[in-house]
Amino acid sequence: MESILCLTLFILCTLCSVINGSHFRGGIISWRPLNNTVTGNTTQILIHQKYFWARNYSSFPNLCTEANVTAQALIPIISYMICLANCSSSNYPSVGLSTIMTSTDCDANPIIQTWTGERYDTLTMPLTTSITIGFNSSSWMIGLYIGSSGIYSIANRLNLALRPDGLINSSPITNTLPVVLYQRNVSVVHVVQMADNDATDYLVCRWSNSASTTNYNRVNECGSICNGLPAFTVLIGFNCTLSFTLPTANVYYACALQIEDYFSSTSTTPMSSVPIQFLFYAFNPSAGACAQRPSIIGARPNRACIGVPYGAQLNETIIAQTYCPSQTIVDFITSSSIGMIHSNISNPSSGIWIMTVTWTPLLSQFGPQSICAGAIDNSSLQSAPWCITYLVGYESPYLIKYSASPVGIISQNQTIFSIQSNFYYCNGKIRVSTI
Ligand SMILES: *[C@@H]1O[C@H](CO)[C@@H](O)[C@H](O)[C@H]1NC(C)=O
Ligand SMILES: *[C@@H]1O[C@H](CO)[C@@H](O)[C@H](O)[C@H]1NC(C)=O
Ligand SMILES: *[C@@H]1O[C@H](CO)[C@@H](O)[C@H](O)[C@H]1NC(C)=O
Ligand SMILES: *[C@@H]1O[C@H](CO)[C@@H](O)[C@H](O)[C@H]1NC(C)=O
Ligand SMILES: *[C@@H]1O[C@H](CO)[C@@H](O)[C@H](O)[C@H]1NC(C)=O
Ligand SMILES: *[C@@H]1O[C@H](CO)[C@@H](O)[C@H](O)[C@H]1NC(C)=O
Ligand SMILES: *[C@@H]1O[C@H](CO)[C@@H](O)[C@H](O)[C@H]1NC(C)=O
Ligand SMILES: *[C@@H]1O[C@H](CO)[C@@H](O)[C@H](O)[C@H]1NC(C)=O
Ligand SMILES: *[C@@H]1O[C@H](CO)[C@@H](O)[C@H](O)[C@H]1NC(C)=O
Ligand SMILES: *[C@@H]1O[C@H](CO)[C@@H](O)[C@H](O)[C@H]1NC(C)=O
Ligand SMILES: *[C@@H]1O[C@H](CO)[C@@H](O)[C@H](O)[C@H]1NC(C)=O
Ligand SMILES: *[C@@H]1O[C@H](CO)[C@@H](O)[C@H](O)[C@H]1NC(C)=O
Repeated sequence: MESILCLTLFILCTLCSVINGSHFRGGIISWRPLNNTVTGNTTQILIHQKYFWARNYSSFPNLCTEANVTAQALIPIISYMICLANCSSSNYPSVGLSTIMTSTDCDANPIIQTWTGERYDTLTMPLTTSITIGFNSSSWMIGLYIGSSGIYSIANRLNLALRPDGLINSSPITNTLPVVLYQRNVSVVHVVQMADNDATDYLVCRWSNSASTTNYNRVNECGSICNGLPAFTVLIGFNCTLSFTLPTANVYYACALQIEDYFSSTSTTPMSSVPIQFLFYAFNPSAGACAQRPSIIGARPNRACIGVPYGAQLNETIIAQTYCPSQTIVDFITSSSIGMIHSNISNPSSGIWIMTVTWTPLLSQFGPQSICAGAIDNSSLQSAPWCITYLVGYESPYLIKYSASPVGIISQNQTIFSIQSNFYYCNGKIRVSTI
């Protein structure tokens, strides 16, 4: 009896220690109906959680490696994303949805130290649902410019009220690198990617805030890292562009935004609110640094959207170019989807560095799946982030043949178009290329 009690206490304490500690490093929550046509008074909603954790968090049993990503190991953050506001409008489970993620990326670079995972859950919910779901606990990582070791809070509005066009809404989707490196005291323009399955929606991002009685989510949206970037940072909402200068080297700056979709540019209330929280890191370049940062080159343009079938293995070659003889790519930082496996880096010819990502999309991964990558050299110079979206279950030729507008190869400066299949769109700020 006593030993059972001791064991129980031991397990409870282990769980506590897994939840408390400076381990949070950001994330994204989004959702969409499996079918946006109304049938009856409920609908199935696919909810996506993605979180970045401190790889070197003391309560993780071992430092993760790519082997854990290959094995699709579960990240043991034993907690729940719960309903935070207007909960009586829905049947969202009162215990919440688990936050135990499947590993998608593990980055051992001493500056990055991130363990990333994602998770999907499907709930059948009434169309009366108009709730805020989120995950708040302690604590943020240490080493932040603002908010070190504070409470984290990340929240999403899940509103199933019918859109003016009579359909069920899908929230915007986004992705980011967990850590984006910039030189200290250099002015930076950083674009956060945003897209939406509802092709004609007007997307705007804004700062997350703690005004829990007045903001759209009715909760503190960002915990200790509200206003986590330097004062004077400018955010242009309609293209989600940040402009800033990082003042202090060797610290991390937490960024918390909400991406919101409006039915049109004249609508006054958004239909959903997707949080995106991630880090910038400022460094002083070393004496031998190259004047030019690496870049990701290759067949696929940044922000390409590619239709892919189920079950066939894809080999995506990510190629970085360097510009000085002494410039060595030491890391490809990534934010991937479940099942994507990252090769070691090879250097087949001078100035060319390659990582291959292999992935066999599963039936359960129907819809948009994405990967972002950035190459880092041995002076901490990081390439611009490169992100692509796969539309699983649709082959590009099919999309382009039947419903692309405009048809054919989409030029680099084409920003407004939509590709409509039965149900999915690659729209707005994403570009399309054939496979
Ligand atoms: C969505 O549901 C409607 C009505 O039941 C059905 O006609 C349509 O085929 C479904 N669409 C998809 C993509 O399953
Ligand atoms: C949904 O419809 C079913 C059957 O038509 C009914 O029994 C149920 O009470 C309705 N639920 C809600 C939340 O309106
Ligand atoms: C990660 O992989 C290592 C080595 O294979 C293993 O010891 C460890 O338990 C794995 N971690 C998880 C969370 O599965
Ligand atoms: C974990 O790594 C981060 C860098 O990503 C570093 O700032 C922090 O001090 C490390 N923490 C521990 C406990 O080693
Ligand atoms: C709460 O949910 C009800 C039912 O869907 C909705 O009418 C109301 O606008 C919601 N309130 C807030 C503050 O979201
Ligand atoms: C999480 O949010 C809820 C609702 O706003 C609040 O009651 C609770 O205190 C928060 N928890 C933490 C740890 O901040
Ligand atoms: C920051 O950069 C500006 C020019 O861009 C320079 O004048 C200033 O001296 C720099 N400050 C520091 C502390 O390096
Ligand atoms: C975002 O819009 C602003 C204002 O029109 C413009 O100056 C800026 O260049 C745009 N950003 C990007 C990345 O296009
Ligand atoms: C990807 O690579 C694997 C193994 O190298 C190979 O069997 C497969 O045919 C390749 N797939 C494509 C689409 O190139
Ligand atoms: C980067 O690596 C190259 C090759 O190993 C080396 O020559 C160079 O000095 C390194 N640069 C820095 C800044 O460490
Ligand atoms: C990648 O590199 C690590 C360490 O150098 C090595 O242990 C591993 O076998 C390599 N993996 C592959 C697929 O070559
Ligand atoms: C778009 O790019 C093409 C060629 O790349 C150029 O001919 C065209 O003028 C550009 N259009 C606009 C609106 O900039």
